[in-house]
Amino acid sequence: MNASSEDWILPGLVRREAGNNRLPRLAVSTPLAEAHLYLHGAHVTHFRPKAGPSTAPCLFLSGSSWFDAGRPIRGGIPVVFPWFGRRREDPAAPQHGFARLREWTLRGAECLAGGDVAIVLSLESDAETRALWPHDFRLALRVTVGTALSVELSATNLSPSAFTFEEALHTYLAVADARQVVVEGFSGPFADTSGGGWRVREEAAVPVRLAGETDRIYLGHRGRIVVRDPGGKRSLAVEREGSDAAVLWNPWIAKAKAMPDFGDDEWPFMLCVEAGNVADRAVTLPPGATHRLTTRILAEAHPASS
Ligand code: BG6
Repeated sequence: MNASSEDWILPGLVRREAGNNRLPRLAVSTPLAEAHLYLHGAHVTHFRPKAGPSTAPCLFLSGSSWFDAGRPIRGGIPVVFPWFGRRREDPAAPQHGFARLREWTLRGAECLAGGDVAIVLSLESDAETRALWPHDFRLALRVTVGTALSVELSATNLSPSAFTFEEALHTYLAVADARQVVVEGFSGPFADTSGGGWRVREEAAVPVRLAGETDRIYLGHRGRIVVRDPGGKRSLAVEREGSDAAVLWNPWIAKAKAMPDFGDDEWPFMLCVEAGNVADRAVTLPPGATHRLTTRILAEAHPASS
């Protein structure tokens, strides 16, 4: 079906369309790549480079995901803000904050030199967010689609006093088989949070290979992470800026079965490598200040030089 002229945000490159369950999304298609960005949660659900070592989708999206205004999308890149996981002060508050549950506003789109396309969405505090978190803020998500996918979350403090928040760009990487992947770039101690606990452990073997439910927070981690995926015949690199913590997550068999919006057999096809600032790496922002968190995903040849 042809898009009508009013659907185009950037003629021939970005258009507004009805996504799953008719939720509005922006569909990007350029000579370099294609991507989908939902206004619900400012959620990137799809990214596929059209050239380079692999033209397979880089992001996993669950076939069982809800596409419902009141619930988060399962897969892609959920935006986690202003707390990570359960809110300690209020366990009934939505897990991973409210940013992924709100409809964001399209602020603009532009074509950049070199053929990349950038789209900016924003979300501001209102009565609903203040009921959950008593601060005034502005978030902007800038998504740049080219041979790599770059997502920058900026948070600005509009309150008269400083506030502290956690955040993450909770990227679900698509892999051929999580049991076969080799994850390079993680070393040293991490918090093992599987089963809801917090046990500080250290991996004896690097690089990391997954052999069961994996839920790890690496605090103070800043480096590049490369997921080598022999089954997919490629590597996916994750580069971060403004991120002082990284999360590695795969639910494995039992937790996958317990998640209503995730297929029982989907867990081998994803691995979350999350760029963030969580726990004692939470960000404290003075009034008027802005903090930026960026994650960049790119496919590389397998094996790739890192
Ligand atoms: C990860 C957490 O970041 O997100 C896990 O470390 C959690 O503990 C996972 O299970 C998924 O969270 P949710 O709220 O999207 O089901």
